[in-house]
Amino acid sequence: MHGSTITDEDRRPLVISVAGGCDDGGMTDTGLITSLRATRFFLDHAVPPEDIEAIVDVARWTGSARNRQPWRFVAVNDRGVRAGLARLGQYAQVLAHAPTVLLLLSGPDRSQDTEFDLGRVCQSLLLAAHARSLGSCPVSLYPEDNAYAAARLVGLCAPWRADHAIALGRPAPAPPGRSAIPTGRKPVRELLTHFRA
Ligand SMILES: Cc1cc2nc3c(=O)[nH]c(=O)nc-3n(C[C@H](O)[C@H](O)[C@H](O)COP(=O)(O)O)c2cc1C
Repeated sequence: MHGSTITDEDRRPLVISVAGGCDDGGMTDTGLITSLRATRFFLDHAVPPEDIEAIVDVARWTGSARNRQPWRFVAVNDRGVRAGLARLGQYAQVLAHAPTVLLLLSGPDRSQDTEFDLGRVCQSLLLAAHARSLGSCPVSLYPEDNAYAAARLVGLCAPWRADHAIALGRPAPAPPGRSAIPTGRKPVRELLTHFRA
């Protein structure tokens, strides 16, 4: 926790089972990043607490402004709470269907960098889950009142708020039909300019 003593045990990086640069068909580190997709269909079993802890153990090494580590996480399996969370964002229904939801919370030590920091730690969580073959989908909880309502659903009062949550679970096959959300990515030539004076 922020402000507590860091032990050597805390410094030990947790090795995730991703084969980097191997020639045995394993996923490379780059492949881990580029193969991450949003999962919105899940098998019914909750993610074991040990898996959640292992994912957070990786993600807690994410950098943050002034090393504030402004994030906290609450894992939710309870069906009723998940249904409540699913009502707190326009596109949050997946939270009711995923077996486990990880709420991303910020609270008293918010700064202008907190949302950026939370975005970074969210991506770390998604990649750590992906490395363990878990599917995930980040979800926005809004407007602002809903972010506070989400925190209250897990027993935390203002200033605690959860602007985002992650749906987590073992992926199930997606039913046939096209997603309303465009897929694919913009090409590098559209995204990158080499500035030359
Ligand atoms: C900040 C953020 C908010 C998101 N909110 C939602 C959401 O509310 N509901 C949802 O189903 N997906 C949500 N997504 C998932 C995006 O739709 C998904 O990352 C994007 O469409 C790319 O999906 P793909 O990697 O499967 O191509 C969100 C993603 C991000 C990064």
